[in-house]
Amino acid sequence: MLSKKLQEAINAQINAEYWSAFLYLSMSADFSAKGLPGFANWMEIQFQEEQSHGLKFLNYMLSRGAHPELRQIDKVQNTWKTPLDAFKDALAHEQVVTKLINDIYALATEEKDYATQSMLKWFIDEQVEEEESVQAIIDTLTLVGDNGYGIYQLDKELQSRTFVPIAEE
Ligand code: FEO
Repeated sequence: MLSKKLQEAINAQINAEYWSAFLYLSMSADFSAKGLPGFANWMEIQFQEEQSHGLKFLNYMLSRGAHPELRQIDKVQNTWKTPLDAFKDALAHEQVVTKLINDIYALATEEKDYATQSMLKWFIDEQVEEEESVQAIIDTLTLVGDNGYGIYQLDKELQSRTFVPIAEE
């Protein structure tokens, strides 16, 4: 059985993952509205990934005999001036999520909850990948600057991203 403190922390993390999903869906819609389908696609895949993260936490709570509580999701921003601004916000957001996950891991360590530590290892690795992939796009956008052809090429590249369900990774 999960401790009350860990139940609360994991429950809050379910909310944070769906809040992340909302943020990326909002970025996807903004890119679509601005005629950038590849950027929109990349963010839509991110939206799907975040939902799968929320579900993974939810299912973990159930597997440990805890009852998840779905809570109100905070409002998210709905427009960004440039793709670089959006990706910089995405990186800052992922850094917050990484800290939240690290904090749950620290709590699970303090409580000697080895099963929760084991479950969280997947998320710790995932956060490294997420921060790295967002940073790579920031680097390219910084190089490209306001060169329209460069943005067009990157948009075409981001169109190829597809969703990979967690179990198949
Ligand atoms: Fe679920 Fe982007 O971390």
